Amino acid sequence: MEKYVQHSTPRYKSPSHKTVPHDATLPIRLLQLTDCHIGPDEHEELLGLNTNQSLTDVIRHVRSHHEQWDLLLTTGDIANNGGARTYVRFLDILQKSEIPHRAFGWLPGNHDSPVDMNEALDSDQLTKEIFIGNWLILMLNTQVPGHTHGNLVEAELNLLDESLANNRDRHVLIFMHHQPVPVGCAWVDTQKVRSEYAFFKILDQYKHVKAVIWGHVHQEFSQVRKEVRLLATPSTSIQFTPKSEDFSVDRQMPGYRWFVLNPDGSFTTQVERIPEKTYSIQFNSEGY
Ligand SMILES: [Fe+2]
Repeated sequence: MEKYVQHSTPRYKSPSHKTVPHDATLPIRLLQLTDCHIGPDEHEELLGLNTNQSLTDVIRHVRSHHEQWDLLLTTGDIANNGGARTYVRFLDILQKSEIPHRAFGWLPGNHDSPVDMNEALDSDQLTKEIFIGNWLILMLNTQVPGHTHGNLVEAELNLLDESLANNRDRHVLIFMHHQPVPVGCAWVDTQKVRSEYAFFKILDQYKHVKAVIWGHVHQEFSQVRKEVRLLATPSTSIQFTPKSEDFSVDRQMPGYRWFVLNPDGSFTTQVERIPEKTYSIQFNSEGY
């Protein structure tokens, strides 16, 4: 395993479930960052873009627009190429970012290593359930080791089913890395969750899931399926062109998404992007 500089006692601990104390009569402020693709040092590039710089720009935007977060989630492709040292760097960046947040959670994307993520947190498992106020946040793992596409294996589907059955008195958000539905972008839709039929079959048995949210597609997306919002969030790094048949890099700016979750199960959400800026990006690239 990769050697890295020993860090001080981690601020983040990652049991398979955790409870964040919160007054259930108050709204919950949730921040989602996704697809940061950073590396073990600040020089990592994705298609020419310095991903450390774009993440720094996004964090600056978050800081200038919002004051306090109850929950900060990152939904995969945190690292461009795994490596415990990269995750330690990411946690250090968050700690030094002055984005005040009371709790943190992450899940792996196809570029991540769950083993290295756990090592960085000094933990032996990923957090799957976060209880906060009268909401439940489910963090599912769609990673298929060694492959780009997503899948929810039987263990994840069972966890989903059991958790929904055991928490019918809570409003639920489900986060994952890959898209469970086509987003209309042919090349990236070949990578969607393979077991989406089984996933939605479980969802259809319950009434308390409010939204399913993912990253991976590096673009904004919004749809409603049987009263459940389906949402994709832009990357903090490069963007992919919506509705493109073949791989295509978009000129939209890096971004993130926030939620305000209300005690009655309603919520508001919005994508924010940093102000127009010129980055060095290989726009005519044919893949990554
Ligand atoms: Fe990504």
